[in-house]
Amino acid sequence: MLKILENIQLKPYNTFGISAVAREFAEIRSKDDAIELVKSGVLKGKLHLVLGGGSNILFTGNFDGIVINVLNKGIQLIEEHDDYVLVEAAAGEVWHDLVMWTVAQGWGGLENLSLIPGSVGAGPVQNIGAYGVELKDCFHSLKAIDLETGKEIQFNKAECSFGYRDSIFKRELKGRILIHAVTFRLSKRPQLKLGYGAIKQELEFTGINKPTVAEVSDAVCRIRRSKLPDPAITGNAGSFFKNPVVSATSAKILQNQYPGMPVYPQPDETIKLAAGWLIEQCGMKGYREDDAGVHPKQALVLVNYGNASGFGIISLAGKIQNKVLERFGVKLEMEVNIF
Ligand code: EPU
Repeated sequence: MLKILENIQLKPYNTFGISAVAREFAEIRSKDDAIELVKSGVLKGKLHLVLGGGSNILFTGNFDGIVINVLNKGIQLIEEHDDYVLVEAAAGEVWHDLVMWTVAQGWGGLENLSLIPGSVGAGPVQNIGAYGVELKDCFHSLKAIDLETGKEIQFNKAECSFGYRDSIFKRELKGRILIHAVTFRLSKRPQLKLGYGAIKQELEFTGINKPTVAEVSDAVCRIRRSKLPDPAITGNAGSFFKNPVVSATSAKILQNQYPGMPVYPQPDETIKLAAGWLIEQCGMKGYREDDAGVHPKQALVLVNYGNASGFGIISLAGKIQNKVLERFGVKLEMEVNIF
């Protein structure tokens, strides 16, 4: 039976650990709860926000509407073929729990995405990514409820318009659907992706030369733990900005000036720059204003040392954007959703 709660403190529901009060709060534990919520008409004329693990959100004030917290659970094998499987996970599952489940079966695809905070349902919205892999690489389809009609809709990969930390759910369909299950296509003969960053080094360091998916997952967890703050200890929402993408010409000009600058050529010949590097060059790594700060080990992550307000984080973010723009002529776009 669906219950709507009132005046709920959102601090435990966002990994930044920001205090904000939601006027109304609904817990969705099944697809039927979501349908009932829409059919009851309580959403009509109200601001609403579908919340998963709250790991990519910054509240800058109270939420004068209804927060819909998706908590349904379940992971199941739905198809098995000679070389791949389809696994469906409920949107309310913790992302890392799903990764651990698939890794335990020896199925490949999600291992580089180990330890990303958040829920399964939020993954496709952001097209989460790490260490050379994006969710879209293993995505098969998803099921959602239309928040206008209460009808179920399915999306295949092409219909999601995935891009770098982007999808149709962040744009045209923003606030219009609730994802309740996601299906992944995983390989029974995994092609491991070890080329990115420190993975190879980490495996070599531990003396592994023919890694399993579990060993890659372990390596990714160790790398993440070594430089990214644990949201259970220090509030944060992962990368606060996207890595900016510039033209090859702009990148060349910058590289002439800054030969050490990391560059990541993209398939469409644009160049992705490392926002963390740009921010560090501006002297902002480890910078702190009251309880809002730039993480000392990864400048792309903003942190809440305790009692920062959403406003404090945003004003720090604005300062960083200005400095990077002034020095490099590059505009940093926020990755985190601001409410
Ligand atoms: N760098 C610095 N200083 C810093 C941070 C980074 O010089 O303070 C340099 C690094 O030395 C490296 C380059 O910038 O040469 C890239 O850094 P890193 O490999 O740490 O990754 P990133 O580009 O900063 C992205 C994702 C992360 C993901 C990592 C690993 C985005 C916005 N962020 O960060 O995703 O974990 O790659 O694949 O694309 C997230 O989205 O929340 C997130 C954590």
